[in-house]
Amino acid sequence: HSVESGNFQWSAPSNIALVKYWGKKDNQIPANPSVSFTLNNCKTITKLAFAKKENDGTFCFDLLFEGQPKEDFKPKIQKFLERIEIYLPFLKDYHFTIDTENTFPHSSGIASSASGMAALAMNLMSLEKTLNPEMTEDYFYQKASLLARLGSGSACRSVKGQVVVWGNHANISGSSDLFGVEFPKAIHANFKNFQDTILLVDKGEKQVSSTVGHDLMHNHPYAERRFAQAHQNLDQLITIFESGNLEEFIKIVESEALTLHAMMMTSMPYFILMKPNTLEIINAIWKFRNETKIPICFTLDAGANVHVLYPENAAVTVLQFIKDELVGYCQNGQYICDEIGNGALLN
Ligand code: PMV
Repeated sequence: HSVESGNFQWSAPSNIALVKYWGKKDNQIPANPSVSFTLNNCKTITKLAFAKKENDGTFCFDLLFEGQPKEDFKPKIQKFLERIEIYLPFLKDYHFTIDTENTFPHSSGIASSASGMAALAMNLMSLEKTLNPEMTEDYFYQKASLLARLGSGSACRSVKGQVVVWGNHANISGSSDLFGVEFPKAIHANFKNFQDTILLVDKGEKQVSSTVGHDLMHNHPYAERRFAQAHQNLDQLITIFESGNLEEFIKIVESEALTLHAMMMTSMPYFILMKPNTLEIINAIWKFRNETKIPICFTLDAGANVHVLYPENAAVTVLQFIKDELVGYCQNGQYICDEIGNGALLN
């Protein structure tokens, strides 16, 4: 098959890790398996237009962010295309226009690399499928996740929903270091429409890029123990997803968040990525949980923002608590209501 020109549009959501990916080997192979909830509202929407060109040995693409040319994203995309060319040998035969926007506020401190790389990978797979129509749906999504991984590790968990595992784990059949897979068993009803309210504590530029952060796990004094712990925590979550035991869920999720930050605090050089308001929020969540017995917990990414996780049936009470007691700790009072979602969509 040969195709002259056309376009696709995919949206892909962000995801929030429960067991964290922190540390990697060559070729974006994770040092430990991770698991995440796919989100629903925080998305990147990317339109890919393609037109056949002479293969002159170079990648040719224009990049638009919210309709405006965006030169500073270009090196990252160039590197991505170089990495995936062995999987998509047609890339130099086309001129691409990549037109992308996020549903969440620009510079909100929410990383768009997972949703962005996943949305781009989906579009490129749509072109691949046009050229090679005989591929199964499973192959399509698996390869899309593999490509997304080469853009940004955690992006491979944004292709599918609702609970995605990335990284080889003995007790999760089909799990792989190369791509994310849907958690293969039924998830307890307690997690249905699980809520994630993201409190924007600090919208500033990241102090430590995740590339630098992952690198700091090489020669890290606690690395091996940490990687083993991630396997154990994932093992426990397998049981918890089945039992619906939210008390146990909270222990694993909060411990993972603090361990991620502990790794940064104990690396060389060392970093503190939490802000005073991050700790204020954590303490307020613990107090509220003690008083109400509502199974609410927090998790963190590699930054100061706090993800507040809770079951749907507690949403009214928790949102009131967030408005009354937590919004004051957010930069400009900003927060985003999200929930567990289903992964990338062709628009
Ligand atoms: O996908 P990366 O390379 O930006 O790494 C993301 C790492 C964390 O967000 C901190 C944890 C995770 O598993 O998503």
